[in-house]
Amino acid sequence: MLVVGGPASAELAREVARLADCGFVEVETKRFPDGESYIRLAGEVRNEKAVIVQSTYPPQDTHLVQLLLLVDAAVRSKASEVTVVIPYMAYARQDKVFRSNEPVSAEVVLKILKALKVRRIVTVDVHSPEVFGRVAVEHVNLSAIGILARHFLDLGFKGASSFAPDRKAARMAEEASKILGGGYGWFSKQRDRVTGEVSMVLEQGEAENREIVIFDDIISSGGTVMMAARTLKGAGAKRVYAACTHALMSEEAYRKILGSGVEEVVSTDTIPTFTSKVSVAGLLAETLRRLT
Ligand code: R5P
Repeated sequence: MLVVGGPASAELAREVARLADCGFVEVETKRFPDGESYIRLAGEVRNEKAVIVQSTYPPQDTHLVQLLLLVDAAVRSKASEVTVVIPYMAYARQDKVFRSNEPVSAEVVLKILKALKVRRIVTVDVHSPEVFGRVAVEHVNLSAIGILARHFLDLGFKGASSFAPDRKAARMAEEASKILGGGYGWFSKQRDRVTGEVSMVLEQGEAENREIVIFDDIISSGGTVMMAARTLKGAGAKRVYAACTHALMSEEAYRKILGSGVEEVVSTDTIPTFTSKVSVAGLLAETLRRLT
């Protein structure tokens, strides 16, 4: 197996290769004067199982095109098979037609990867794993919730309660509570598809006098986590922290989150940013060793 370090995830890919004890292929990249992406594998992948690691965080379109070009380069260079690791998968949230005349963007991304002949796709806490079944492509979705919860456990959070800001994330809070103890709770959340306005109701869980960690797959504008934190503080929570797999937020959103009473936000390096305090490299290396 050879790990190819896509430009968006070169550091993570290098660490995956080190932990999986396999070769690493660098990638040359530049922009043409008109803005198009140029990409080239800086090493041979012929007759090797190539694993391309490329996250598709902002600028999503550039990172996505770089990924597609890398897959084509590896296939043309006669890799024996190509696995793509997309730690954060852009367009995954548009997993159905919410309003008439919209595309299903997540399916479009997968159909292109399948047409390019990828063998399998590995993601981390992808928003909607069901879409992969619709496109009939081999898929492994890993969860970073365990490593995020263990990060808090190591910091002395044994007995803290785990909360999810919506019904879909409830399984994340439940998984985290098995590590932290302290039980779990969840909110129900509705988002107006036109205005984007969010409303939330605390459905289950005790907040009074508790240390709480809110777990979610994504923090973007921070609106979801802020609303959950305010409700939990209002219900008597002692301290509230937030943890997510993918931190898409700006520094301004981060400051607003702290302003809502959250003590700290912790994320993984699926998107390398100032809140990335936990690495998914070990999780990926272990999985790739098993799969390839
Ligand atoms: C939505 O279902 C996701 O799980 C996240 O809760 C959402 O994407 C967070 O977005 P924001 O930070 O903009 O509220």
